[in-house]
Amino acid sequence: ASNRKMLVLGGDGIGPEVVKEVLRVVDWMAKKRSVSFDLQEGLVGGAAYDKHGTPLTDETLADAVDSDAVLFGAVGGTQYDDLPFEVKPERGLLRLRKEMDLFANLRPAMVFDAMADASSLKRDLVSGLDIMILRELTGGVYFGQPRGIDDLPDGTKKGYDTQVYTTPEIERIGRVAFDLARKRDGRVTSVEKANVMMSGVLWREVMTNLHKAEGEGVVLDHMYADNCAMQLVRNPKQFDVIVTDNLFGDILSDCAAMLTGSLGMLPSASLGAVDEVTGKRHALYEPVHGSAPDIAGKGIANPIAEMLSFAMALRYSFDMGEEADMLEQAIQNVLKSGLRTADIMQDGMARVSTTVMTDSLLKELDKLVSG
Ligand code: NAD
Ligand code: IPM
Ligand code: MN
Repeated sequence: ASNRKMLVLGGDGIGPEVVKEVLRVVDWMAKKRSVSFDLQEGLVGGAAYDKHGTPLTDETLADAVDSDAVLFGAVGGTQYDDLPFEVKPERGLLRLRKEMDLFANLRPAMVFDAMADASSLKRDLVSGLDIMILRELTGGVYFGQPRGIDDLPDGTKKGYDTQVYTTPEIERIGRVAFDLARKRDGRVTSVEKANVMMSGVLWREVMTNLHKAEGEGVVLDHMYADNCAMQLVRNPKQFDVIVTDNLFGDILSDCAAMLTGSLGMLPSASLGAVDEVTGKRHALYEPVHGSAPDIAGKGIANPIAEMLSFAMALRYSFDMGEEADMLEQAIQNVLKSGLRTADIMQDGMARVSTTVMTDSLLKELDKLVSG
C-alpha cells in the first residue's frame, strides 16, 4: 500500500454518482501513472443516518482525521428534511469541518475558454476569469453560541443564531488570503458588513492590522458583502482573492459559480493548519454544489466539480501538481471537443451522460500521456 491515504465519502443524491467517476480517474492513475492511493470508503449524511442513525459516526470521523485527504461528494435530500436538526445530513459535513478544524475553504471560480458562452453573463465579462473565494469555514454564525428556538411567554417563539469572530480566527484566515494572493495577482478584497455588524467591524480592523504587519506584496481593500454580490455579477474580473466569513462565503461562492456556467463546475478545498512537526494538514475536497435531488439517479450530473476537487487534492495534499495539471487539461480538452452534461448544454454541443463525460475524459488523459 502507498502512503496516500484518501477517505472517500460519497454521501447522498448525486454525491456518490460523481465520486464514482473520480474513482475511475484514480484507477487510471494507478494503471497509467503507477501512482496508487490507499483508498477507504465510508458513509456520511443521509446514507450514514439510514445505516447508523447519525450523519457521521465517530469511526468515520476518526478515519477522516487519520487520512491525508477526504474526497467528499454531497449530502442532503428531501427525504431527510423533517429529521431533527442534530441528525440532519448537513450536520455530518459541518461536524467534519469543525472537528478537523478545516478553517480555510478555497473556492476558485475559473472560466475555461470553451465555457465562456455558458455563463449567464456576457462572454466579455467572464472570459479568462480566475478568482479565488476564500471562505472562513469553522466560525461565524454557522457555529456561534447561543443558538436555538425558545418559547416566549406570549406563546410565540424566538429563533436565533450568533455571529462571532475572534481575533485569532480572523488572523489565520487572513494569512491564508495573503499567501494565496502572493501566488496569484497580489490582491485581496476583504468582505464583511462593518457598517452594520460588530463582528464586521472587528474583521476589518484585524485584516487592516494584519496587512500592515504581514501583508508585504499584497494590496488589500475592503468591501461590504452586499456590494460584493453586486460587483461579482457587474464586473467579476476586478477580483483576485476575496476573503470573507462563513455565511457570506457560502452565498458569494454560489453566486460566483454561475459565472462559470454551472454549480456543477465548481470545486473546493477545505484545509486545516499545517502541523509544524509533520508538515501535514487535514484536508477535505468537495464540490460547491449539493446533492441535487432534482437530478439524482438520472445519470446526468456533471462530474467536473468533483473532478476538479480531486485535482485540488492532488495539488494541495499529495504534491502531485503534474497530475493535477494533466487532469485539468483533460477537462478543458473534453469541453473543447463539445461534450456537455445537461446543466451546461448549449446549442451545437453534444449532450452526454455523467459516465460518457468521464469516458471521454479518460481518453483525453490517455492522449496526454502518450502524446
Ligand atoms: P444543489 O447544489 O444540490 O442544487 C442546486 C441546483 O443545481 C439544482 O437544480 C441541481 O440539479 C443543480 N446542480 C447541482 N450540482 C449539479 C451537478 N453536478 N450537475 C448538474 N446540475 C447540478 O443545491 P440545493 O438544491 O439547494 O440543495 C439540495 C440538497 O443539497 C440540500 O439538502 C442541501 O442542504 C444540500 N447541499 C449540500 C451541500 C454539500 O454537501 N456540500 C452543498 C449544498 C447543498
Ligand atoms: C456548502 C453547503 C453547506 C454550507 C451546507 C450543506 C451545510 O451549502 O458547502 O456550500 O452551508 O456550508
Ligand atoms: Mn453552499
